[in-house]
Amino acid sequence: MAGQKRTFRVWRGNAQGGDFVTYQPEVSEGMVVLDVLHQIQAREAGDLALRWNCKAGKCGSCSVEINGKPKLSCMTRMNVFEPDETITVQPLKTFPVIKDLVTDLSWNYEQNKRIAPFKPKPPGPDGKRRMYQEDVDRVQEFRKCIECFLCQDVCHVLRDREGKDRFVGPRFMIRLAGLEMNPLDDADRIPEIKQEFGSGYCNITRCCTEVCPEHINITDNGIIPLKERVVDRYYDPVLMLGRKLFGIRKRT
Ligand code: SF4
Ligand code: SF4
Ligand code: FES
Repeated sequence: MAGQKRTFRVWRGNAQGGDFVTYQPEVSEGMVVLDVLHQIQAREAGDLALRWNCKAGKCGSCSVEINGKPKLSCMTRMNVFEPDETITVQPLKTFPVIKDLVTDLSWNYEQNKRIAPFKPKPPGPDGKRRMYQEDVDRVQEFRKCIECFLCQDVCHVLRDREGKDRFVGPRFMIRLAGLEMNPLDDADRIPEIKQEFGSGYCNITRCCTEVCPEHINITDNGIIPLKERVVDRYYDPVLMLGRKLFGIRKRT
């Protein structure tokens, strides 16, 4: 089947600045946005910088903003757009641009290093450590994260430049949740979840949950239970208001 010319506006530039450049790639059936970017790279712009690895939604490398929304370019099919729609592709706004669609994500890896690793409880009298299947299931969800950082990109707290000094972001809130909710983890993480990692700055808008390609229920299953635990020990006005306005229920 013959391809159809489409209009793509792709951001080109570096840390000093840049602008959108228009391309007219030929799109055929079954293509995803990443295929189109590769075609632009092959035919029109050999120096276009973009990240990708798996082309299967599993490595988290190809994160960009497509028509203003954080997406994996390898999982965004061309047939979701109208035939005459112009498609805009730009780098993640929350992180500094290196070149074209490639951003510097190192801030995220620095946050990861701040989180203390799993600290196993001493084994039981029989020398074994046990946990219930429901506890396994609960933390398993958070381990599906592919570190695409789309949730970090969309979080308005992190989009605010100063927010990065205050809040670790949704991806690391779920890493903390996976440790804090693990009954075999012996560390008391609540004081630093509040003070160091800034749980109080999340105002539970759920934007992070909406963009997660792994469909992790970041806010309801991760952040809100952590906030509940903080509230139990301290006081969090956003969650108290959330409970009143939206009827957010306490998880057990
Ligand atoms: S729910 Fe919280 S962490 Fe998620 S995007 Fe909103 S403010 Fe950020
Ligand atoms: S939680 Fe979801 S959106 Fe956030 S980094 Fe992990 S996979 Fe990506
Ligand atoms: S290339 Fe791996 S998630 Fe898109």
